Amino acid sequence: MKLTYYGHSCFSVEIKGKHILFDPFVTYNELAKSIDVNSIPADYIFLSHGHADHFADCVAIAQRTGATVVAAWEIHEWLNKSGVANTHPMNTGGKWNFDFGAVKCVVAQHSSGLPDGSYGGNPMGFVFTTEEGNFYYSGDTALTMDMQLIPRWAKLDFAVLPIGDNFTMGVEDAVQAAEWVNVDHIVGVHYDTFGFIRVDHEKAREMFRNAGLTLHLPAIGTDITLQTGNS
Ligand code: NI
Ligand code: MN
Repeated sequence: MKLTYYGHSCFSVEIKGKHILFDPFVTYNELAKSIDVNSIPADYIFLSHGHADHFADCVAIAQRTGATVVAAWEIHEWLNKSGVANTHPMNTGGKWNFDFGAVKCVVAQHSSGLPDGSYGGNPMGFVFTTEEGNFYYSGDTALTMDMQLIPRWAKLDFAVLPIGDNFTMGVEDAVQAAEWVNVDHIVGVHYDTFGFIRVDHEKAREMFRNAGLTLHLPAIGTDITLQTGNS
């Protein structure tokens, strides 16, 4: 499965020809200046929560592309009031069959206010099970025991996990999370963007390697191909 990294926690995957974008935050990311936000394709936009560093470009990309925005009920209502009509509300514990595959919303241990102070509901992670492969994007979260449920729902090919510490899991807890969700390939996100979350890349790779795991840190604006059970 092809994954494109746009910096911070913004990435997209392509499944059945659909571009599925996560947590768009490009315009205000100093590290992502090389990316033209107007060139990012999207058929779907999944939002893990309402914080600006996951949400800032959502309205503009949704309006340009007509993408379906999938988010917590409270964010869906906020978007509808803000001129984005094509939304699909979900909440933790719920699963829906989309045209590209199934998505289950899972618990993330974080917070979720919207940039204007509105209540954003609960933060979420997503478990994707599709004919082209399975993966888990945790969103911003602490290491949480709830992650141990995920192998009951999916045999994962890869996981996208925050590694930056301070606001979310750091590397050590992300290694534990990978073990709990039973995955060997991890794409690290939510690091380096701000002073609080700088990460030593080599040390991070080594900590995953020591646990028998592979940490992928794609350069901003590049694609990687992750092996899946079905490809
Ligand atoms: Ni956050
Ligand atoms: Mn964040």
